[in-house]
Amino acid sequence: MSQFTAFVQPRMGRIFAALGLDVEYVRAQGNTLYHRDEQGRDIPVLDLMGGYGSLILGHNHPEIVAHARALLDRNPAVHAQFSLRGEAGRLGAALSDVVRRETSAKEPYVATFGNSGAEAVEAAVKHAELVRVHQATALADEIAQNAAAAREAVRSGDAVLDADAFRLPAVRARAPQDQSIDALLAALEAHNAAALATRPLFLALERSFHGKLVGSVQLTYNSGFRAPFTNLGARVRFVPMDRLDLLDAIADEERVALLDTEIDAGRIKVVERALPVITAFLAEPVQGEGGIHALTAEQGRAIRLFCNKVGTPLILDEVQSGMGRCGAFLASSLIGLRGDYYALSKSLGGGLAKISAMLVRRSLYQDEFDIIHSSTFAMDDYSSSIGHKVVELLEADDGEVYRRVAERGEKLTAMLTGLKAAFPDIVEDVRGKGLFIGLELKDQGEARSMVLRGSAYTGSLGYLLSGYLLRQEGIRIAPTGSAGNVLRIQPSAYLTDEEIEHLRGALERLCRILRYEDTLHLVHP
Ligand code: F0G
Repeated sequence: MSQFTAFVQPRMGRIFAALGLDVEYVRAQGNTLYHRDEQGRDIPVLDLMGGYGSLILGHNHPEIVAHARALLDRNPAVHAQFSLRGEAGRLGAALSDVVRRETSAKEPYVATFGNSGAEAVEAAVKHAELVRVHQATALADEIAQNAAAAREAVRSGDAVLDADAFRLPAVRARAPQDQSIDALLAALEAHNAAALATRPLFLALERSFHGKLVGSVQLTYNSGFRAPFTNLGARVRFVPMDRLDLLDAIADEERVALLDTEIDAGRIKVVERALPVITAFLAEPVQGEGGIHALTAEQGRAIRLFCNKVGTPLILDEVQSGMGRCGAFLASSLIGLRGDYYALSKSLGGGLAKISAMLVRRSLYQDEFDIIHSSTFAMDDYSSSIGHKVVELLEADDGEVYRRVAERGEKLTAMLTGLKAAFPDIVEDVRGKGLFIGLELKDQGEARSMVLRGSAYTGSLGYLLSGYLLRQEGIRIAPTGSAGNVLRIQPSAYLTDEEIEHLRGALERLCRILRYEDTLHLVHP
């Protein structure tokens, strides 16, 4: 048993061994990883997992490695918390500039840095809840002031109670007999205290993936990841991507009213004031882990209009789809969708650093958030400087990398579409954007082969095929975690024609194995 299996991931280590994925990579360059055989020779593997989508510039990009070396040669103050962080400032400014360029946003974005994608989502969730709490508190304060004014107006004889005030169910239930202003205000106060205790709600899309930390896992649709922990976190309602028409009904169901008083022509009236309950709406412009599903421009517009209407912010999770992966810095900008928040990570670290950024519109940003949200290693000079270099490389030559991603993505998609045409009985769908592609294989639940039927039943077809492709074809590919028959293809922007051809040949052989159920190849050591 390897030390990895014994001391780090006992279950995954055994699964890797069962699937023939138990290799240790010792070196990497571009789209190639190397492990060693028994004779110590380097065995190249075409890496189409790309660090779970974190390597849009490939492994050990020469300019990023050189930048890191030069940085370290300067003995930088990598960790100098509680001081001005110049590198983080420069990266924050660069990110805001790129977002404004791409979305035509009129205001800058403020960056909160972290160490992982889930941390960026957690920061956005916390900040959005801070905004909601501030709004609710301001509303409650206003209502308290109005109540004092009403009490004073009745006491001084400037106003009388409107008879309707006591017909409200919330009042009737609490002040059935006593029709005094004090009884009315006490009833309203009791109702409002209960209403203010309403647990906040988040909206997300079915098949979403937003991370596996305590807060972010509540927003991840896969119940296997989420179910054990739901008591730890916020309330979330998931909406099917193709049923956004349900949003209005959800908003109506979730509506909570505070009861306020107003003096109208000498009469004290009770009026309803909507309590902000929906803290935020989260969406991935292209869902990744959930099976590679892209939002259409119409769906993006529907989500944006809904958020504007109900006054809830939109958090766009571009951890996976951003950083050029889909052919633009932000995948959401390709469908004209602008967020109030953005979560960025993965490729921001250039394959050498762990960094994430949560961006929020400046006019929404709560200044105290700097103080109440932090992380030891966030804003460190090393990661921030690498991140800045990555943004420079992506933006260079007027966005040459984005154009390259779009062109390589078209070529790769064309090849896969050809494969689907040749094997319509095996390939279900080819979808995605840029170099964020999903190859969906038909469910093998009806196969004669028990190996295939079994893998379909357990949702492990993609994992079985990943082991075959690695061992027999020297290709590293993985299924999306929540859709086991969707292979995720996420190479770097420097994907070559030869690498596309390598994949084409391997997938053709695989499709023939599946067509003729020649499964001995799949399970052969
Ligand atoms: N948001 C999205 C859209 C993601 O795809 C991921 C991770 C995260 C957040 C969490 O980022 O892992 O750095 O904490 N996606 C990985 C995947 C797990 O399967 O693509 P993290």
